[in-house]
Amino acid sequence: MKRRKFCRGTGLAMASMMLPAPSIAVLGAASTGANRYELVAQKGAQHLAGQANPQTELLLYGNNTPGPLLVGRKSDMLEVEFINRLEMASTIHWHGIRNLNEMDGVPELTQPNVEPGERFHYRFALKDAGTFWYHAHNMAWEQVARGLYGPLIVLEEEEQLDASNMVLVIDDWRLTADYQIDMASMGSLHDWSHGGRLGNWLTINGKSKPDIQIARDTPVRLRLINAANARIMTFSLAGDNQFEVVAIDGAPCTAFMTDRITLAPAQRLDVMVSLQSAQALQEVSSDQPFDVAMLRPEITLDNPAPNRPDARPWYPRPDMADARVIDIHMQGGAMGNLSSAMFQGEELSLRELAQQHRKLWAFNGEVGGYHNLLAEVDLMQKIVLRVHNDSRWPHAIHLHGQHFWVNSSEITSEPVWMLRDTYLMAQGEKAELIFIADNPGQWLFHCHMLEHHAAGMGGVISVS
Ligand code: C2O
Ligand code: CU
Repeated sequence: MKRRKFCRGTGLAMASMMLPAPSIAVLGAASTGANRYELVAQKGAQHLAGQANPQTELLLYGNNTPGPLLVGRKSDMLEVEFINRLEMASTIHWHGIRNLNEMDGVPELTQPNVEPGERFHYRFALKDAGTFWYHAHNMAWEQVARGLYGPLIVLEEEEQLDASNMVLVIDDWRLTADYQIDMASMGSLHDWSHGGRLGNWLTINGKSKPDIQIARDTPVRLRLINAANARIMTFSLAGDNQFEVVAIDGAPCTAFMTDRITLAPAQRLDVMVSLQSAQALQEVSSDQPFDVAMLRPEITLDNPAPNRPDARPWYPRPDMADARVIDIHMQGGAMGNLSSAMFQGEELSLRELAQQHRKLWAFNGEVGGYHNLLAEVDLMQKIVLRVHNDSRWPHAIHLHGQHFWVNSSEITSEPVWMLRDTYLMAQGEKAELIFIADNPGQWLFHCHMLEHHAAGMGGVISVS
């Protein structure tokens, strides 16, 4: 990891706390049970690199990155009027939500692209409480890298987002020497064939090394969201403090203690922390720990709202006796074993794919896209996606529309069964992703290293 620019933020006084108060117009009548928001996507600028440095020009939802914190209550409807004031088409995907297919926000697959000047009304029920996020899904590799994403929290009945329940959206940006988004390298084939677009500047809630005031004398729930294009991040707390992991990709889990947590792009972890004094949250994936934020237990809450999720996941791991097995062979990228693949009905060499079409990855011998069908399955069928990462790169593989069970060693050395929507697969790994196909529609299955997806790591699972 390049530390050069990460370190420039040191010593700047940066005042910040929670996410800024939602800057959205809350249009709705609570009496209908509807949570209604307006989300405008447009150009803007923000002090990503601290007040002392120039603002960074970005693409923003509601004039900030991360975009406004959208909050809903479980079982309510969420309504978002999306207004596109960008110069390019866009859509919004609600990552991790077991959504209606037509509200899933995948252009060309579940809805038409929302062109500049157009709008689209998203409206769906919130079935599950937990930590989610939303992001642009058209040319996500560029639009997310320029700032188009935000947190979505669905609360249980009695939960509140007070100082004992904090949302931390983490991103790594690739900035130039004058603190602008590095546009020259946007779409670099080198990134697409290697580990994706890795940044050189880390922010939490759009700020460099923020001071985050949290509740004192009570365990605090941190809801971490990795919004990076491609960076896998590992965190620890200074001062031998541990995390207690209580939810994974939104869904509650059997709690466990750990001193390190890893989040691949798009993954979320909810962790409980009990700090006696101010401690740094550190990114430790390189040999040099890097302080990303200071957590200060300074806020006294008279009545902290309940902040621990129920220990039961949304649904139990199904028995797989008569499950249908679908094999997915992932190949491609630099130093890989993909020599040729099918693309638009033609078998092309990897060189032709890369040079003529900017494609570098394949599922089952076929370069993927929004129209590549990986499987057609029956509604309520038990499914095992047997995935083989036959490449030299890790991949954060994401299924839209439903979570799956996976026996994961992502965080602990002993594997643990987890309910997830995004799973980090190591080089060479074979994994089984298990679920009941209870959500009808055309569901995208793709790598959330967004450059890999753009270069062919994606396909569709059709449930009907
Ligand atoms: Cu969060 Cu298809 O993505
Ligand atoms: Cu990938």
